[in-house]
Amino acid sequence: MNFTNDLIESLIKADKIAVLTGAGMSAESGIKTFRDPDGLWAKLNPEELASIEGFMRNPETVWNWYNERRKVIAMANPNEGHIALAKMETLYSNFTLITQNIDRLHQAAGSKNVLELHGNIVENHCLRCKKPYLEDIDINSKILPVCPLCGGKIRPSVVWFGEQLPQNTLFEAEKATEECQVFLSIGTSTEVYPAAALPYIAKNNGAVVIEINPRMTSFSNEASFVLNGTAATVLPELVKSIAGKKNK
Ligand code: OAD
Repeated sequence: MNFTNDLIESLIKADKIAVLTGAGMSAESGIKTFRDPDGLWAKLNPEELASIEGFMRNPETVWNWYNERRKVIAMANPNEGHIALAKMETLYSNFTLITQNIDRLHQAAGSKNVLELHGNIVENHCLRCKKPYLEDIDINSKILPVCPLCGGKIRPSVVWFGEQLPQNTLFEAEKATEECQVFLSIGTSTEVYPAAALPYIAKNNGAVVIEINPRMTSFSNEASFVLNGTAATVLPELVKSIAGKKNK
């Protein structure tokens, strides 16, 4: 892919970068997105599987669905895009990676400053007393674990529809977004708020906003640059184009 001089210049000049990633970031690691034609929400109902009401109605169904996702994620490896972002972080003194993904693949690739807006699939906690559940999970068991302290139902520590995002994490994400000179929006449909507001906040604060996505999104027309390709193909080339020219 050919990048314009303006785009490369903006990345070389910047010292504060914020990045937002969504499910498309992990698509090439074999993890399905949500809203693509073959995405999870094409066949499954998010209200049943990703809401507190759905969990209260059918806790085992929801728990087992997360176990299936745990199995897929356990088999997945970071792709070239994750690796390129970890490399990119080393080029900047101020680099914040904000992710909606729960798969921990950014950390597995070596990214350090990661803000998980929607929690993660590795940790669990008690629905009733909110304490972390620290026992190992048997991903093949269909039985929902209960809290050893209060007997409450155990749930994955992900953010479901209708739930508040972790407020400190959101605050840090908004701060990094407001302060950055370049903001990258990668592999997200920019449909789910408050995460979807971040590219707009960056733009309104004067940042250059670069979108990386093989498809147009509701944000594409607002972006300073749209790189029409996949995360694992575009990011390595992009990082190669700035490495060597960029002094921390
Ligand atoms: P979506 O499934 O809504 O969007 C995925 C985006 O990734 C789409 O715009 C695709 O075009 C793009 N895409 C697909 N393959 C790609 C690739 N290889 N490289 C780059 N982009 C690619 O996923 P999110 O925007 O992450 O929340 O969805 C946001 C939230 O909605 C998720 O965190 C989840 C979901 O419901 C909850 O479960 C609370």
